[in-house]
Amino acid sequence: MEHETLVTEYRSISKKDPLIEIAASEKEEEIMLRKIFVVINVFFLISIIGVSASALTLSEQLGKSIFFDTNLSINNNQSCAACHASESGWTGPDTAINAGGAVYEGSIPGSFGNRKPPSSAYATPSPILHYVIEKKKALFIGGNFWDGRATGEILGSPAAEQALGPFLNPLEQALPSAAEVLTRICASTYASLFTQVCGSGACDPTNVNAAYDCVGLSVSAYEGSSEVNQYSSKYDAFLNGFVALTKEEKQGMNLFKSKGKCANCHTLDPGPNGEPPLFTDFTYANLGVPRNPMNPFYSELAFNPMGFAWIDLGLGGFLASRTDYQPFAAANNGKMKVPTLRNVDKWDLMLGPQIKAYAHNGYFKTLKQIVHFYNTRDAKPSCLNAFTSVEDAMAQGCWPVPEVPVNVNAKELGNLHLTDAQEDAIVAFLKTLSDGFMP
Ligand code: HEC
Ligand code: HEC
Repeated sequence: MEHETLVTEYRSISKKDPLIEIAASEKEEEIMLRKIFVVINVFFLISIIGVSASALTLSEQLGKSIFFDTNLSINNNQSCAACHASESGWTGPDTAINAGGAVYEGSIPGSFGNRKPPSSAYATPSPILHYVIEKKKALFIGGNFWDGRATGEILGSPAAEQALGPFLNPLEQALPSAAEVLTRICASTYASLFTQVCGSGACDPTNVNAAYDCVGLSVSAYEGSSEVNQYSSKYDAFLNGFVALTKEEKQGMNLFKSKGKCANCHTLDPGPNGEPPLFTDFTYANLGVPRNPMNPFYSELAFNPMGFAWIDLGLGGFLASRTDYQPFAAANNGKMKVPTLRNVDKWDLMLGPQIKAYAHNGYFKTLKQIVHFYNTRDAKPSCLNAFTSVEDAMAQGCWPVPEVPVNVNAKELGNLHLTDAQEDAIVAFLKTLSDGFMP
């Protein structure tokens, strides 16, 4: 990371700075520290702006052009960014949608998928889907999507395989074929970049397979670039030693690691390739999240003949579709991939307060609600109606039954005995994870 090295260099210089050593009173020292923060801040800005303007490799640039190209959808109206907006932490940016079903409409009006978009940032370090045997059980790790079905087995990268899905998904960008995606790229303003990166024959119809794979690899290259995975949050600044957390944030971080048990899954250890903490260990768990009564998929009978009886089996549903993994399906029904918590509170500050949605079906609308759920899922009675909204559940002092009542994790969550103030402290800590921090 460019800005990290700059900042570290600056810090080692500043330590030797005689001006600091002779700072007579604590107050002067404080002013000096503030000045240092301002300088660091400028470095942050330079590095971020610098990166977006020039530091992308050709493959990353190509991936960026593809990621933001609305012409790569059947009605020329939707790019990846429609559901993964950088200002909203690379997830759905629409407050009204997030407040309701939290599922985004595809290029074709009225067509909806069945899940909330997770962040498309910090997804590239996820390893190829595999399992290890732990306590005589298969523990699945890696892949992309809530259910891991972009395994990475074919291209060696889950994110690259994931990127090839939305263009052809009838409920998303809805193009009829890979050849059609390539035809559109080859007619775009960045067509020459495409052949430069993917080979001079990439627009030749006989090369569809290789050229389409190259599209996926380029998109994942962009998703893995320092423009997307910035590691530029207040928490990163804290880890690098040039900003302090407030008392409440620090308390929240400590609870996150101890009584809250959050770090058991949203790990604070370095990532698989030595990245700063990714807040996910890429495993799967069933938290017992209730159904989101406003999920538009329930009434989309052409794609969902089960209507309101439909339940999302997550990882188990995917494993059942594979002969090699089928024996493990039942034990993984209801499990979803542990998402990163980076940018979980990020939104476009220009727009004022926004609503985001949390969990695979966007049931929760605030961080306080989901933390309260972790804390009290098993301490409160079940709501009479399984389709109770989060606001009503909070008001009634109950939680609806889980969407998938089997394999629910009762060891690490459900009755944490956190006080109200401790819940708030955890929320305050989660708010330090937004990229683009300015001291
Ligand atoms: C209509 C909304 C929509 C569009 C358009 C869309 N996505 Fe997504 N994206 C989603 C949803 C919903 C999921 C989760 C789906 C699931 O788990 O079944 C998702 C999942 C992902 C993930 C997985 C993250 C993880 O941690 O597993 C990545 C990465 C991603 N999308 C990138 C992209 C890219 C790249 C494009 C463009 C080629 C794109 N998305 C287009 C809605 C969208
Ligand atoms: C047993 C593993 C596990 C533990 C422990 C855990 N989580 Fe999670 N977390 C998950 C999984 C899995 C999901 C997705 C669940 C779903 O969508 O059904 C999730 C989702 C979330 C989300 C929503 C993110 C998004 O983008 O939608 C937040 C916020 C969150 N967890 C915070 C926490 C906090 C705070 C704690 C501690 C109080 C915690 N988690 C403890 C596994 C865990």
